[in-house]
Amino acid sequence: MREKVLILDFGGQYDQLIARRVREHHVYCELKPYHMSMDEIRAFDPIGIIFTGGPRSVYDETAPHVDPAIFTLGVPILGICYGCQLMAHTLGGVVSAAQSDTAREYGKTPTHFDTACRLFREIGEQSVTWMSHGDYIARLPEGFVSCAHSDACPTAAICDESRGFYGVQFHPEVAHTERGADMLRSFLLDVCGAKGEWRMGSYKDSAVAAIREKVGDGKVLLALSGGVDSSVCAALLAEAVGSQLTCVFVDHGLLRKDEGDEVEAAFAKWDVRLIRVNAQDRFLARLAGVEDPEQKRKRIGEEFIRVFEEEGKKIGAVDYLAQGTIYPDVIESGKGDAAVIKSHHNVGGLPDFVDFKEIIEPLRSLFKDEVRALGRELGLPEYLVSRQPFPGPGLGIRVLGEVTREKLDILREADFIFREELARAGLDRSINQYFAVLTNARTVGVMGDGRTYDHVLALRAVTTDDFMTADWARIPYEVLDRASSRIVNEVGGINRVVYDITAKPPGTVEWE
Ligand code: XMP
Repeated sequence: MREKVLILDFGGQYDQLIARRVREHHVYCELKPYHMSMDEIRAFDPIGIIFTGGPRSVYDETAPHVDPAIFTLGVPILGICYGCQLMAHTLGGVVSAAQSDTAREYGKTPTHFDTACRLFREIGEQSVTWMSHGDYIARLPEGFVSCAHSDACPTAAICDESRGFYGVQFHPEVAHTERGADMLRSFLLDVCGAKGEWRMGSYKDSAVAAIREKVGDGKVLLALSGGVDSSVCAALLAEAVGSQLTCVFVDHGLLRKDEGDEVEAAFAKWDVRLIRVNAQDRFLARLAGVEDPEQKRKRIGEEFIRVFEEEGKKIGAVDYLAQGTIYPDVIESGKGDAAVIKSHHNVGGLPDFVDFKEIIEPLRSLFKDEVRALGRELGLPEYLVSRQPFPGPGLGIRVLGEVTREKLDILREADFIFREELARAGLDRSINQYFAVLTNARTVGVMGDGRTYDHVLALRAVTTDDFMTADWARIPYEVLDRASSRIVNEVGGINRVVYDITAKPPGTVEWE
């Protein structure tokens, strides 16, 4: 049985980060809502439990609590920030609101540690921690001692080592806590006794075995978009149940250069049924005369579903519809009430009309970088695994105004050159998304001795953590220069190239 750590989510802003840090120590963990029942917790069978931070005070009427029975499981528990206060409060200690501003702590705080405590044995007596709390523990519960302090807080960390209970006021999961990773490792390996053997290779093997057991000799259907998540999902299923898997890949003609062939080639090594639907004409017909971006999105989405529906009917009833949902799609953290599960459909509305018994989502416990690692384990090519995000409506929203075959062809060539030049300059990993946009504007130019009147092409490249905000990438002029000269010289129909230097906000990443 795999060793697992349970993280109970009290709505703190770093909750997903805690899960990532635990997995970085090669210990499998899952983030679950704080109100998980004791029966579910026992069935989960964790080797250790972590309580996350949260925005409330333990005395708030709506403050989330835990069943005190959790402290009788004989399982080590680490409480972080709110989780630390909750542990103290539930076990009979006293939590107080800081009376003065000096007792509140926010930000980097010099902290002193008792290095006899198992959590801090590997670290020095003093280092910086990241604090973010108004309340503090004024009286310790029975059996606990203070094992760290700062100038303002005598109980920066508390422990009852005999029971394996630890609480820290600071956030060991954020990089600003200098030795935070070491503290988490001590908790996982020394206190919980984890072996730290969780690796993507072993994950792949157990996931393949689990899929085989679940699917049996059933039939599985998957809508393959060519994006990272659906490709890795398809590869995992292909590895597990091969010929029982049918992948429908709708080529709507709005893909980047060579993309359709690349996806097809990547799956050639498996014995799966890959149906590539060449639906370019249908999509172009639906987009004829349409200029409004939202209309374009809507029509592309609808047409996609229609094509998929038709293919689904040809295939007939299947047992499972597979989706490439990943962990960040599942968790909605930091919203106060922890871990509300949102239902996420990569392709909106699909399950309503395809005849299937159940949905399977084999990637739903993985973060994006883990999905990529799994893809590599499965032998998917790097161009698929490290692919940048690409919007569902594809080039349909990067050809401004009406979408025509001619404009798509121009854009595809220009976009390819831009991507090639960024890769050549070694910038394709550090820039999170980069692409070309064919604008509606035409300008006068001169080529040879002749006048031209052609399209303006815009280049867009952004750096971002989460795509909610983004900055324009500071691409060296020489790289922009090479891309611009090549595009104007090699792609007919473009005589001017501009670079978009707008951040998001106020701009968005895409132009439409
Ligand atoms: P925006 O333009 O909203 O883009 O700043 C943020 C991220 O979302 C992608 N995007 C889309 N993805 N369907 C998608 O699947 C869409 O309609 C869509 N619009 C934008 C965009 O490429 C960027 O990564």
